[in-house]
Amino acid sequence: MAKSKIIYSCIECGYKTTKWVGKCPQCGSWSSLEEEEELPKEVRKAISNNQVGSKKVLEFQNVNYTNEDRYKTEYEEFDRLLGGGLLKGEVVLITGNPGIGKSTLLLQVINSYKKYGEVLYISGEESAEQIKNRGDRLKISGEGIYLMSEMDILSIYEYVVENKPKVVVVDSIQTLYNSAIDSISGTPTQIRECTLKIVEIAKKHNISFFIVGHITKDGKVAGPKLLEHMVDAVFNFEGEEGLYYRILRSTKNRFGSTNEIAVFSMEENGMKEIKNSSEYFLSEREEKNIGSMVVPILEGSKVFLLEVQSLITDCTIGIPKRVVQGYDRNRIQILTAIAEKKMYIP
Ligand SMILES: Nc1ncnc2c1ncn2[C@@H]1O[C@H](COP(=O)(O)OP(=O)(O)O)[C@@H](O)[C@H]1O
Ligand SMILES: [Mg+2]
Repeated sequence: MAKSKIIYSCIECGYKTTKWVGKCPQCGSWSSLEEEEELPKEVRKAISNNQVGSKKVLEFQNVNYTNEDRYKTEYEEFDRLLGGGLLKGEVVLITGNPGIGKSTLLLQVINSYKKYGEVLYISGEESAEQIKNRGDRLKISGEGIYLMSEMDILSIYEYVVENKPKVVVVDSIQTLYNSAIDSISGTPTQIRECTLKIVEIAKKHNISFFIVGHITKDGKVAGPKLLEHMVDAVFNFEGEEGLYYRILRSTKNRFGSTNEIAVFSMEENGMKEIKNSSEYFLSEREEKNIGSMVVPILEGSKVFLLEVQSLITDCTIGIPKRVVQGYDRNRIQILTAIAEKKMYIP
């Protein structure tokens, strides 16, 4: 077999070059070029022979589908984010920092999907015992949920095509690898090829997938940006350390609208969806507090009521200081400038 050659590829836009540069000439991102192996021609060919969709030509009117094909969970907000449920053959990427609750949420969600048939949870991060332990904590009876700790996409392919589960969770894409490719898991090459394979399986066999993608605090892990182009929907799980609520935000959605959010609270026995989030966010607010105001915020198609708090004290030094938390500081500067100049509010 011919030897692979080292090339550099941009994790943001996929631009390729043989020489490393600090700034990507295509998308302008800094330090986004990562070393990867260019695959020998025969490997590339073997992979692409196997790629997305079939080559068959169909006449438009012979394409059949129904809108009833959406799988629903017991979590209304989650289904709403998906545009009314998960479509057969849809591939959803869930990203978020480690520990935010991706595995927890997905285990709860596939537990909901098992009424439609076999569901499969593939984990390269935790052992079957650890997952079962989490399941017990979440009060999920393991019946109908299958666990797989195989991380070679080719073995996964074999199993999935033979057993045709309805929904598959891959936790995480960074631990997956293709044994036909000579590089370790987590590299841009592996991430790309494994995702392509997943998309192929999903589309050819009408099997829905959730893919977990990690982003570390310094955003260094290759993948998520590249991945986003290949999947049907991207949901980002957000939250702050020390706070119990989590926000799932759709940033890409081929079969639903984007910028929708669903709010969850992290509880002892798993993620609980918060249907009336305004009530939740305002639950600790006292009436008639000076410096506190409730404002409506539009997120996607939903309006949320949030509390804005402010505190002003006398300034002993010449230049007053404005400190902002949870909002864009520059925007506050502009708004206060407008208030002062045009509305005469000092
Ligand atoms: N026994 C437990 N009781 C309560 N919370 C737990 C328990 N075990 C783990 N957790 C919490 O669950 C979270 C881990 O969620 P997980 O779904 O594994 O995150 P991710 O998959 O995004 O890394 C952690 O924040 C952890 O604090
Ligand atoms: Mg996890």
